[in-house]
Amino acid sequence: MTLHHEHGSAPRQSPGDVVISVRDLVVGFGEKLVMNGLNLDVYRGEVLGFVGGSGQGKSVLTRAILGLVPTRAGSIRIFGHERDKLPSKERKALEQRWGVLFQNGALFSGLTVKQNIQMPMRETRDLSQKLMDELAMLKIELVGLKPDAADKFPSELSGGMVKRAALARALALDPELVFLDEPTSGLDPIGAAEFDELIGTLQETLGLTVFMVTHDLDSLYSICDRIAALADGKVIAEGPLETLLRSDHPWLRAYFHGVRGGRLAAATAD
Ligand SMILES: Nc1ncnc2c1ncn2[C@@H]1O[C@H](COP(=O)(O)OP(=O)(O)O)[C@@H](O)[C@H]1O
Ligand SMILES: [Mg+2]
Repeated sequence: MTLHHEHGSAPRQSPGDVVISVRDLVVGFGEKLVMNGLNLDVYRGEVLGFVGGSGQGKSVLTRAILGLVPTRAGSIRIFGHERDKLPSKERKALEQRWGVLFQNGALFSGLTVKQNIQMPMRETRDLSQKLMDELAMLKIELVGLKPDAADKFPSELSGGMVKRAALARALALDPELVFLDEPTSGLDPIGAAEFDELIGTLQETLGLTVFMVTHDLDSLYSICDRIAALADGKVIAEGPLETLLRSDHPWLRAYFHGVRGGRLAAATAD
């Protein structure tokens, strides 16, 4: 595995290309502040890896961007629109421009893979069953599942297949932007590497912008164009992996130069 992956050549950082822009975000539950003045930009066509210690608020930020968690202050702009200021009809239209793979997959256990993938289509489009069947089969192929997975229930699938099916559902409405919350957690290293490769390939072929929460150092160096690190309610470092490796922040040092990160530090030494 190499540090400089093939896709995502030049960093795309012109202000017009900002897909998600979070400013001075404050999110809390009761007395506890989880986000405390957080700033973050995600650029069009990049894979942004979002890292941080367990319980620091990676999932909460994801949900706040999606509008699933109330915010106390700050702004969140997506595709140039300040989400909270949009009338509900336009907000719904905006929501159809992204797909989400929640932490732990979250497929409906009582529905087959095909039915899971068709859920977003059913909710938002008026398509014939025949067309939805064809579209679902396309998505199934896109994520590298065999056609016979279509009629299986989530309980009949391996962990890696569940993730792929959940990704197929996230891609159901042909989104421009995809949120992935720890997509490789629970997979063995080979399954995780295959899933990373799939995300990288899809990002490239579909021109996706990817916001990916991850713990996985392999994912960070195989598919992420930039990384943002969360600690104490703020983004403490943001940039290419090389920039984060040079950070003096204690959490980042421990993360990248600790036991698990040693291999990475060694791999980037030359
Ligand atoms: N709905 C909620 N109500 C109260 N506290 C919450 C809620 N959701 C998350 N939290 C708290 O917010 C913090 C961040 O959680 P989370 O975003 O899930 O962390 P992680 O970085 O591991 O994804 C945790 O302390 C968690 O307990
Ligand atoms: Mg989480």
